[in-house]
Amino acid sequence: MSKKPTSSPASPSTSSRRKNAVEEKSITRREAVQIAGAATAAVALTAGDFPRIQKVRAANSTVQYGLIGTGGRGQYHLKHFKKVDGGRCVAICDINDTALKKGIEEAPDKPQGVKDYRELLGRKDSDAVLIATPLYTHFPITKDALLAGKHVFCEKSLVFKPEEVHELRKLVTERPKQVMQVGLQRRYSEFYQTAKQMIQKGMIGDVTHVYAQWNRNPGWPYRKDNWRLYRDTSGGLTAELASHQIDVADWMFGSHPEFVVGVGGIDYHKDGRTVYDNIQLIFRYPKGQKLMYSSISTNKHLCMFQGTRTEFGEVIMGTQGTIEITVGTDNEPALGLWYYEPGPKVEDAKKAKEKTAAASATLLSTGKGGRSLPILLAKDQITDNDSFLSKEMKFARRWLYSKGVMAPEEIRNPVDVQLDSWFDCVRTGKKPAADLEVGLADSSAVILANLAMDEGRRVYFEEIHKMGKKA
Ligand SMILES: NC(=O)c1ccc[n+]([C@@H]2O[C@H](COP(=O)([O-])OP(=O)(O)OC[C@H]3O[C@@H](n4cnc5c(N)ncnc54)[C@H](O)[C@@H]3O)[C@@H](O)[C@H]2O)c1
Repeated sequence: MSKKPTSSPASPSTSSRRKNAVEEKSITRREAVQIAGAATAAVALTAGDFPRIQKVRAANSTVQYGLIGTGGRGQYHLKHFKKVDGGRCVAICDINDTALKKGIEEAPDKPQGVKDYRELLGRKDSDAVLIATPLYTHFPITKDALLAGKHVFCEKSLVFKPEEVHELRKLVTERPKQVMQVGLQRRYSEFYQTAKQMIQKGMIGDVTHVYAQWNRNPGWPYRKDNWRLYRDTSGGLTAELASHQIDVADWMFGSHPEFVVGVGGIDYHKDGRTVYDNIQLIFRYPKGQKLMYSSISTNKHLCMFQGTRTEFGEVIMGTQGTIEITVGTDNEPALGLWYYEPGPKVEDAKKAKEKTAAASATLLSTGKGGRSLPILLAKDQITDNDSFLSKEMKFARRWLYSKGVMAPEEIRNPVDVQLDSWFDCVRTGKKPAADLEVGLADSSAVILANLAMDEGRRVYFEEIHKMGKKA
C-alpha cells in the first residue's frame, strides 16, 4: 500500500485570516486566556468515537472504491481523495462524456472510466462506492450499490421522496455490515464538534434558537439542463443548501423538529425554473426551540463575523451566550466565534454573583453588548506535556486570536476528515458520524419543509411515517 500525505493543512491567505479576526480590544490577556481555556477544555473530539458494529476488514487494509457522478461535487471529492490515505480509486462513472473525462483527469490512481454505474458496481475489486449524482438518482443508485454488497457514501440530501426514506432504512438495517455515510461534512468539522461540546457543557446556557442562512446573489443561473431547477429532479434550495444547516440545528438541539412552517416563491427568477428562488422556514423543536432559516437569491450579505464573510453561516443562541459558526470554503476555512451574552451592570452583577455561579462569567462583559472570542481548538489547548517553548507559543497564539490579529484554523479540511473517516468506518465497522439516521432525518426535514411551503400549512414531522407507505 503506497503512503500518501495524511493531512492537508488549510492555507488561507494572511489577509483572510486578518479579515476573519475578532474585534476584542479591552479584555486583558489573562482574561482572554482564562476564557479561551474554558472553551478548549470542552474539546475532546468525538468523530468516529462510536461503538464498533462489526469488524469488516483488517484495520490496515486499503479501501478500494468507485465514484459515481463526476460532475462538480464528484470532481471535488476526487481532488480531496488525493489528500487522504488508505484508499484506492478503481473506477469512476458518469453518463456524460465531458464530466467523465474531467473525472479521469482529476482522479487519483488512474481508475477505469465507465458510463453505466452497474458496470462499476459489478466490479469484484471494489469494496465501496461514493455517489455524487443529482438528488433524484440517489436512492436508485444507493439501493443497487447496497444490493451489490458495497459500502456507500452518498451525498446529501440522502433521499428525494418519502417512500425512499422508508425503503432505504429497511435496506440498510438489513445489512448491518455495510457502512452507510452521508455527505454532511459539518459533522466532521472540529469547530462544529467544539460548539457541540460547549453546548453540552452549558457554556452558552440553554440553547433556544438557531438562525441559519445561505443567501446568494444571483443564485443558481438558469440552464435548461440544470437538474437543480426543476421539482421532478430537485428539492430546490431546501435540499441543496438548507439540508446542511437543518442538520446542524438537529445536532446542536439534540433532537428533531416537531413541525415546520414556511413561505417560498419564484419571485425574482421567473425563467422557467419550478423550484423556489427564495425560502423562509421556521422549524419548531420539542422544547420550544426554533430554527429560523433563510435562503434567498438576491443578496448574499451575512450578518455574522463582522461582515468578513458572505452567504452562509449559523448563529446558535443560548441564554448565556451565542456561537457564530461557518464551515467556510476551501479558500476561507471554517470559523467560530463565541459571544458572551451582555450581562447585568457591574454593580448588579456583584449582587447576582452571590446568588449564582453563572453571574461571575458575566462580569467579563461590559453590559453594553456581547463580546466575541474565537472558539479554540484542541491544538491550542495547553497541557502539562507541553514544553516551555510550546506553552509560550500557544499562549502567544491565543493572545493573538483574542486580539483579533489572527483566527484559529482547523488543521484539516472537514471534507478530507469526512472521506478519511469513511475509509476508517469501512475498515473497522465503526458507525459514521453522519450515518443513515442523520441522513434520513435531514431528508425528511427537507421533504416536509417543501410540503409546508407548497401547502401553506404547519407540517408535523410525524406525518413522514404515513407518507409514501402503501395503505
Ligand atoms: N456536501 C456538499 O457540500 C455538496 C456540495 C455540492 C453538491 N453536493 C451534492 O452532490 C450531488 C451532485 O451535485 P453536483 O453539483 O456535482 O451536480 P452536477 O450536475 O455537477 O453533477 C452530477 C453528475 O452526475 C452525473 N449523473 C447523472 N445521472 C447519472 C447516472 N445515472 N450515472 C452516472 N452519472 C450520472 C451527471 O452527468 C453529472 O456529471 C448532489 O446531490 C448535490 O446536492 C453536495
